[in-house]
Amino acid sequence: MAQKTAKKYSRIAWLYDTFEYPFEMMLFQKLRAEAISCAKGKTLEVGVGTGKNLPYYSPEIELTAVDFSAGMLKVALEKHKDIPLKGLTLLEMDIQNLSFEDNSFDTVVSTFVFCTVPNPIAGLRELHRVLKPSGKAIFLEHMKSSNFLINVHLYIMNMFSTMILGTSMIRETQKNIESAGFTIQSVDNKAFDIVRLIVAGKK
Ligand SMILES: C[S@@+](CC[C@H](N)C(=O)[O-])C[C@H]1O[C@@H](n2cnc3c(N)ncnc32)[C@H](O)[C@@H]1O
Repeated sequence: MAQKTAKKYSRIAWLYDTFEYPFEMMLFQKLRAEAISCAKGKTLEVGVGTGKNLPYYSPEIELTAVDFSAGMLKVALEKHKDIPLKGLTLLEMDIQNLSFEDNSFDTVVSTFVFCTVPNPIAGLRELHRVLKPSGKAIFLEHMKSSNFLINVHLYIMNMFSTMILGTSMIRETQKNIESAGFTIQSVDNKAFDIVRLIVAGKK
């Protein structure tokens, strides 16, 4: 399953930024800036994709970024080879099986990723494991709404998004974050409550 989804992303990597451009202009760029401004110290970004968040990190951040799609990582590398970040490392890795030691990062970041991770709770548990006890997890994620009418639309979109990219429009990511052991510190609803900026810590 993971390999199949990674392949799907690698296949569309060349088109990904063009496809997302209208959403970035309308809303996402602003939300990325807000989310990434919370990152501090040694930071892990999971599912970095084409590296859209990279320009928003402060130059003092020591950043490791992973993705399981070689194609997405290749675009990220080409686009951001001159980025002035302290020790930027891009690695091909599955979020569900991170090769880092327990309690290694001050911040973990995920933007629009847990709609796609094949086993989201397993992936979130890995983030929880590698986060330091005093660290912060920052999630900017789209998910199922609390509004019935919005969800009707999301269910329709879900039929296509799962087929094309293995991406779910109806995951309950806030609940999943809690189920994986995180304590939620704040939730900021964006675009009704379809997109949420969630800051969480370790219990
Ligand atoms: C919708 S894209 C978002 C990319 C980027 N975070 C952004 O905000 O533009 C989801 C990304 O997560 C990656 N991804 C999904 N599941 C993953 C997993 N289990 N391990 C590593 N990367 C994963 C995909 O390859 C893809 O690049």
